[in-house]
Amino acid sequence: MNQPRQELLRYLHQLAEREPVIVLDAPLKQTKAGVEPDDRPERLAELAQETSTCTLCQLSETRQNVVFGAGDARAAMLLVGEAPGVDEDRLGEPFVGRAGKLLDRILSAMNISRQDVYIANILKCRPPGNRNPLPNEAASCLPYLRRQIDIIQPQVIVALGLIAAVHLLNMRPNVAVKALRERIFDCRGRPLVVTYHPAALLRTPSLKAPLWQDMQMVMKLLSGEIGWQPESSLVLEV
Ligand code: URA
Repeated sequence: MNQPRQELLRYLHQLAEREPVIVLDAPLKQTKAGVEPDDRPERLAELAQETSTCTLCQLSETRQNVVFGAGDARAAMLLVGEAPGVDEDRLGEPFVGRAGKLLDRILSAMNISRQDVYIANILKCRPPGNRNPLPNEAASCLPYLRRQIDIIQPQVIVALGLIAAVHLLNMRPNVAVKALRERIFDCRGRPLVVTYHPAALLRTPSLKAPLWQDMQMVMKLLSGEIGWQPESSLVLEV
C-alpha cells in the first residue's frame, strides 16, 4: 500500500475510532443508466440563472450574492446545509468558511473531493446575523432546492444539521439531530441521511465520531452495501 493511502487509512481509523472503514476507490459520479438525456449541467445552469435575480423574500434586499450551490451536476451525493454565512454571501459559494473547511476535510477522509459532490443550502441568501431561516424565507426558497434535487437526481442526500433535516423532511423543529440519525428517510424518492452540521463539530468535537458513523452509512448506500427502495408509505414530500 502506498504511503498517502496508508496515512489516509490511519487518519480514518482515528476519526472513526472504530473499524471497519470503507474507502471509496471508484469515482463518485453516477453510473446509473437511465438518466437520459443527460442535460443536468445545462438545466442546473438555467436554474442558477433564474435564482440569481430572485426577489421572493426580504433576504434579497440584504444579500451580496445568491449562493445557488456548487459542485457536480451529476453528483451521486448532495449535501444540504442551512444558509450562507458571511463568507459564502461575499463569495457566492456554499461552505467556504470555517465550517466549509471542516466539510472539505470530512469529504477528503471519505476519499471524495468537493468537486465530486454537490453542495447546497436550504436558503440561497444569507439571513442577517446568521439567524435561523424564517418560515416565509424557507417557503420561498425550497422550491429551488427541490428543482435542484430533481435535476441532479443524487443517489444519496445528506442533511447537515437540524435546519436542513426539518425542512427537507417537512418536520416540526421540536426534534433533535440525535433522534434523526441512523435512519434512512425518503426525500423526493431518494434516500436521505441526517447528520450533524460541521459547525456543530467545531463547537463540540465529540460529535466527530457519530458524524463519521453517519458518513459510513452514506458510503454504504453509495456502494450498494445498504440497499434502499423508496417506500410510498414513508415518502415525506419536501
Ligand atoms: N453553513 C451552512 O449551513 N451553509 C453554508 O454554506 C455555510 C455555512
